[in-house]
Parts: sequence; C-alpha cells; structure tokens
Amino acid sequence: MKPFLKKGLILSSICFLLLYSLQSLCQYKDEAPKKNVLANQECLKCHGGHFYYYYNDWVEKDVRERMNPHFVIDSTKFYKSNHKTFACIDCHSYEYEDFPHSGSLRMEPIYSCLDCHGGDENSAEFNFEQIEENFINSIHSSKHGDNFTCWMCHDPHTYEISARTKESIIDVVEYSNNICLNCHNNIEEFQILTDSENPNILDAHDWLPNQSIHFRSVRCIECHTEINDSILVAHKILPKDQAVQNCVECHSTNSLLMASLYKFRRKENRNAAGFINAAILKEAYVIGANRNIYLNWASIAIFGFVILGICTHAILRIIKK
Ligand code: HEC
Ligand code: HEC
Ligand code: HEC
Ligand code: HEC
Ligand code: HEC
Ligand code: HEC
Ligand code: HEC
Repeated sequence: MKPFLKKGLILSSICFLLLYSLQSLCQYKDEAPKKNVLANQECLKCHGGHFYYYYNDWVEKDVRERMNPHFVIDSTKFYKSNHKTFACIDCHSYEYEDFPHSGSLRMEPIYSCLDCHGGDENSAEFNFEQIEENFINSIHSSKHGDNFTCWMCHDPHTYEISARTKESIIDVVEYSNNICLNCHNNIEEFQILTDSENPNILDAHDWLPNQSIHFRSVRCIECHTEINDSILVAHKILPKDQAVQNCVECHSTNSLLMASLYKFRRKENRNAAGFINAAILKEAYVIGANRNIYLNWASIAIFGFVILGICTHAILRIIKK
C-alpha cells in the first residue's frame, strides 16, 4: 500500500473512533442509568402490564391477578418522558419494594414540581416560579385549591415537553389539547374533583365555525389563558366569561397567536417573502393574519396609478375643452 494511503486510512479510523465515542457519550446523557432501569424492572414486572404474578405464602403457590388499570405504567412512554432517567423510588418510597405494599403507603405525601425545580439553575429557562404563580391564580386552583395539582395535567409517568421540541404545530396542538380533554372529555377524571356535570365541549363552543379545524390548529389555552411574556406556555386559565370569543384577536395582522402558539417559532424564522407573521404561514393559512407586505404595497401602488390616470384624463379633457 502507498504510504500516504496508509496514513490516510489510519487518520480516518482515528477520526471515526473519536466521533463514535463522542456520540455514545452524548447518548448516555439521555438514557436512564443502567442501575435505575434494572431497579425499575422490579416494579414494572407488575406495573408494566394488566396482569401480575406473586407467590402466595398462605396457599403456597404462584397466583396471577389483574392489575388495577389506573396503576399500569406504560414503560415506553415512561422512558421517553422528561423524568426518564429516574428510578421509581426517586419519587416513591423505597418501601414499595416490598409486596404486598404496606397499607399506609397510599398516604405518602407526593412531591410537587417546585420541590425539585424551585430555584434550580438547570431548569431556569422554564421559569417554574412564574408558572406556579400563574397556576395558583388560575380558575382550577381558585375553585379546587391544592386538590388540583400540577400532576393532574402533567402525568408523572408520561409527561414530556412538546412546544419546544415537536416539529409540527399540529402535533404540539394535539399533545396540549389532549391534556385538557383528558378531563373535559372524560367524566371519570373530571369527577375526581367535583360532583358537577361535565359540560359538553362541542356544545360549549358551538358559536365557533369550523370547530374541528380550529381545535386541530389552535390550543385550548390560546383562548383560555392570559398571555404572559416571561413563560413560554401560559398557565393562568381564566373564568369562562373571560375567554377569547372575538375572531379578530386571531384573524388579524397582530394575531394573538404570535404571542402564544407561535412564540417559540417566531424567534427562529423571520420574514418569508414579505409575509407579515411568516412563522404562522409555514403551518397554516389564518385568514387576516397572513398578509403580504409587498402585495399590500403593490395594491396601494395600483390604486395610486388608477387615481393618477383618472386625474390626468380629467385634466386633459378640461384642457381640450
Ligand atoms: C408483585 C407485584 C408488585 C410489585 C413488584 C410492585 N407493585 Fe406496586 N402495586 C401492586 C399492586 C397489586 C398494587 C395495588 C394495591 C395493592 O395491592 O397494594 C400496587 C400499588 C402500587 C401503588 C399505588 C398505591 C396506592 O394505593 O395509591 C404504587 C405507587 C406502587 N404500587 C408503586 C410500586 C413501586 C414504586 C414498585 C417498585 C419499587 C412496585 N410498586 C412494585 C403490585 C406490585
Ligand atoms: C417524577 C416522579 C415519579 C416517578 C419517577 C415515578 N412516579 Fe409514580 N407517581 C408519581 C406521582 C406524583 C403520583 C401520584 C399522581 C397523582 O396522584 O395524581 C404517582 C402515582 C403512581 C401510581 C398510582 C397510580 C396513580 O396514577 O395514582 C403508581 C402505581 C406508580 N406511580 C408507579 C410508578 C412506577 C412503577 C414508577 C417507575 C417506573 C414510577 N411510578 C415513577 C410520581 C412519580
Ligand atoms: C423528585 C424531583 C423532581 C420532581 C418532583 C419533578 N422533577 Fe422535573 N426534573 C427533575 C430532574 C432531576 C430533571 C433532569 C432530568 C435529566 O436531565 O435527566 C427534571 C427534568 C424536567 C424537565 C426538563 C426536561 C428536558 O428535556 O429538558 C421538565 C420540563 C420537568 N422536569 C418538569 C417537571 C414538572 C412539570 C414537574 C411536576 C409536575 C416535575 N418536573 C417534577 C426533577 C424533578
Ligand atoms: C390545566 C393543566 C395544567 C396544569 C394544572 C399545569 N400545567 Fe404545565 N403545561 C400545561 C400544558 C397544556 C403545557 C404545554 C405542553 C407543551 O406543549 O409542552 C404545559 C407546559 C408546562 C411546562 C413546559 C413549558 C415550556 O417552557 O416548555 C412546564 C415547565 C410546566 N408546564 C410546569 C407546570 C407546573 C410547575 C405546574 C404547577 C404549578 C403546571 N405546569 C400545571 C398544562 C398544565
Ligand atoms: C377560539 C377560542 C376557544 C378555543 C380554541 C377553546 N375555547 Fe373553550 N371557550 C371559549 C369561550 C369564548 C367560552 C365561553 C362560551 C360561553 O360562555 O358561551 C368557552 C367555554 C369553555 C368551557 C366552559 C363550558 C361551560 O359551559 O361551563 C370549557 C370547560 C372550555 N371552554 C374548555 C375548552 C377546551 C378543553 C378547549 C380545547 C379543546 C377549548 N375550550 C378551546 C373559547 C375557546
Ligand atoms: C384534572 C382534570 C382537569 C384538567 C386536566 C383540566 N381541567 Fe379545566 N376544569 C376541571 C374542572 C373539575 C372544572 C370545573 C371547576 C368547577 O366549576 O368546579 C374545570 C373548569 C374549567 C373551565 C371553566 C371555568 C369556569 O369559569 O367555569 C375552563 C375554561 C377550563 N377548565 C379549561 C381547561 C383547559 C384549557 C385545560 C387544559 C390546559 C383544562 N381545563 C384541564 C378539570 C380539569
Ligand atoms: C385562537 C385563535 C382563533 C380564533 C379566536 C378564531 N380563529 Fe378562525 N382560525 C384560526 C386558525 C389558526 C385557523 C387556520 C386553520 C388552518 O388553516 O389550519 C383558522 C381558520 C378559520 C377559518 C377557515 C377554515 C378553513 O376552512 O380553512 C374560518 C372560516 C375561521 N377560522 C373563522 C373564524 C371565526 C368566524 C371566528 C370567531 C367566531 C374565529 N375563526 C376565531 C384561529 C382562530
């Protein structure tokens, strides 16, 4: 082999190895430490499916039983969630390692998000303190106090951030709206908090034309929260009589969507071919919000030429007379 070929070969294999180890290092950051995965498997062998087994000392044999469906944890979703690196017993008492679980464990207090994220530098970008303040002033908290927790919207075993990470706005909207519909479309969940009837969501919004298109393109929170500049996702849900009902709030050039749904994207893509609100245009055509500056100018210019034409024509006729 020619010497320069040999050198090149060695050099490129070194580069490859370096890149490879760098990549596996980066991957490691995102994966749960092995010991947690192994420990969680001990819980998931029962909580991962609809049936579980245990050895019954009294009758001296293995018994197969049904798992309460509310206690089933989807491990695929868990290992995609924000807290995928956790061991179950980081949040739950280690006494759950024993079975049958002690009866008093059901009374164990649960952590709040702020117990871990309050004042934490690593999660400063989310501004948990502002979110909590918003939440405490929301209609849910003012009606149900601390019975309504952050966990009710952010399922501890599946919650993942979406507004920052999902590529398509349609997916962001779907993820977010399912959080609300999980109660507002589900009497079992809704009535954990209240005995009152669950108002039908379709009926409550029958004033909105093209309802299914709207629910696919905008989030519930666009109309139901107060916009807040210091957090990405507004959390202050207002009483229903303060919800947005005016079409022009979205269907206009200063669409509220730019301060809410499209807030994160707005920073990324600027003006596309002269369109005002170009960030929206990439995903949807919102009547009134997607005007084009050049077209506006062109129509003004055409209007000006027409007036000019009429005037010249009139002046010429007067002179002729
Ligand atoms: C042998 C099967 C089995 C194993 C292993 C197991 N659990 Fe359970 N777990 C159950 C069953 C069955 C229930 C339903 C209530 C009961 O029977 O105590 C339950 C209930 C629970 C509850 C709900 C308690 C309540 O009433 O609100 C939690 C939380 C829980 N388990 C956590 C864990 C954790 C964490 C682990 C692992 C450290 C674990 N479990 C391991 C079978 C198991
Ligand atoms: C980030 C913290 C956290 C982690 C990690 C966690 N849990 Fe939970 N878990 C909670 C909270 C909080 C609740 C109570 C939710 C509620 O009451 O709304 C809960 C409730 C439960 C319940 C009762 C069902 C329910 O919805 O009330 C079971 C069973 C359970 N967890 C099992 C597990 C298992 C098994 C793992 C590990 C695979 C695990 N948990 C990991 C925070 C966590
Ligand atoms: C027991 C402590 C604890 C609790 C309780 C807790 N978290 Fe976390 N959370 C963490 C830690 C630690 C991380 C960093 C995990 C990592 O990097 O693997 C994290 C990560 C996150 C992230 C960032 C994910 C990312 O990809 O950057 C978000 C968002 C988050 N948590 C939201 C919440 C919310 C909302 C709640 C309450 C509903 C909550 N957390 C409750 C400890 C906690
Ligand atoms: C009524 C439902 C609801 C409640 C209650 C709620 N949230 Fe949220 N939260 C949401 C929705 C919807 C999103 C948007 C999810 C997405 O697109 O990432 C969100 C997003 C978040 C995010 C990610 C924001 C970002 O910048 O990416 C954090 C952090 C968060 N919530 C924390 C909390 C905390 C802390 C509490 C309790 C003090 C709480 N939430 C209570 C519905 C709720
Ligand atoms: C285009 C704006 C808009 C969107 C999007 C929207 N809402 Fe509404 N919503 C309203 C308005 C306005 C009212 C008050 C209607 C009235 O008083 O007749 C309302 C009423 C409600 C009510 C009170 C019903 C009652 O009769 O007590 C609930 C609950 C509700 N909305 C939940 C949701 C949920 C969940 C979503 C997402 C799937 C959503 N909304 C999406 C504007 C909106
Ligand atoms: C854990 C269940 C649950 C979730 C999740 C939930 N809600 Fe609610 N919501 C309720 C309950 C219960 C009420 C009724 C309060 C009452 O009148 O007692 C309510 C009331 C409302 C109202 C009517 C307020 C009024 O003036 O009567 C609106 C609007 C609303 N929710 C919007 C939302 C939005 C938007 C989301 C998602 C970001 C959401 N909710 C998520 C349980 C939930
Ligand atoms: C929260 C913001 C918001 C509000 C409020 C709102 N819209 Fe829309 N609307 C949208 C968005 C976003 C679309 C774009 C849908 C797409 O192209 O994906 C849309 C689309 C439409 C469409 C076109 C549907 C189609 O066939 O493509 C009509 C018509 C419409 N809206 C009428 C109204 C009327 C009338 C009102 C007031 C009663 C209203 N909208 C209130 C955001 C809003």
